[in-house]
Amino acid sequence: MTSSDDLDRLAADLGAWVRQQRELGHEWYLDAGEPAVVPADPSPRTALALPARLLAREPSPPVAPNADADKATREADFARECEAFVRDTVARVARERAAAPQADIFSAAAAPAAPASLSRDEKMATLADLAAGVTSCVRCRLAEKRTQTVFGVGDPDAGIVFVGEAPGREEDLQGEPFVGRAGQLLNEILKAIGLRREDVYICNILKCRPPENRDPEADEVEQCEPYLKRQLAVIGPTVICCLGRHAAHTLLRTNASLSALRERAHFLGDVPVVVTYHPAALLRNPHWKRPTWDDVRKLRALYEALRGKA
Ligand code: URA
Repeated sequence: MTSSDDLDRLAADLGAWVRQQRELGHEWYLDAGEPAVVPADPSPRTALALPARLLAREPSPPVAPNADADKATREADFARECEAFVRDTVARVARERAAAPQADIFSAAAAPAAPASLSRDEKMATLADLAAGVTSCVRCRLAEKRTQTVFGVGDPDAGIVFVGEAPGREEDLQGEPFVGRAGQLLNEILKAIGLRREDVYICNILKCRPPENRDPEADEVEQCEPYLKRQLAVIGPTVICCLGRHAAHTLLRTNASLSALRERAHFLGDVPVVVTYHPAALLRNPHWKRPTWDDVRKLRALYEALRGKA
């Protein structure tokens, strides 16, 4: 039987942990309105042990007096970092555009035409043809178990394309990428930078769900990647955002760690590629939400800087 002293000690520990998380900035704007105090799914032990006042959504404990100053310093540091990131990346885009003809950007793609030469309607029609081809694809074993293929969704003329890993259970059932829990978080992330799903294009490296959501295998990626390259060639985005390491490793042909990849923009021809955490990883590791927030703000700022500079 848990004694009342134990409960008080547990409550005090939890209160201290919550205050520490707040001071570290681990509650994220995207979670505004969500309780930082109580885990969403308290374990039976926690649920039994915690006094009701902690399980209820209590008002936040007082924030440390210097928290506002720390936040202002952090934001000022971020603003400087973001400005340098945008300046350096825009300069590199200009160099790439001056140096390289567009032709071979998405090399696995037999691009149907240079993106700039396609109207929005032509892009939509070309993507629809490609999607129809993907529907009957049997290039790899994933065809056997899928409910349906998951091609991509969004604006065929989007300036920003988000690339994830592979459809999960919900996506396989609904035929649309990022519609499960990770997708809901992606929607929140987009909203936080002033975008809606319809404003961007969202797709995956793989167009079919790997069983039990296992990692994509090399031969599956190899068979499926040409579809993605073709999609990208048709859309002709200004910026690409890789969600997670599988997307980044595939598109950028690297094995570098995600934290290393996040440090700067990468390039596919003259198209900058920004790498950030996968939303599903954020659900498992909420402390990565803060760096993700910085990544997507940089992405948005870069896009704004490049928009209209084509
Ligand atoms: N995870 C992905 O990488 N893609 C989806 O579409 C859904 C979850």
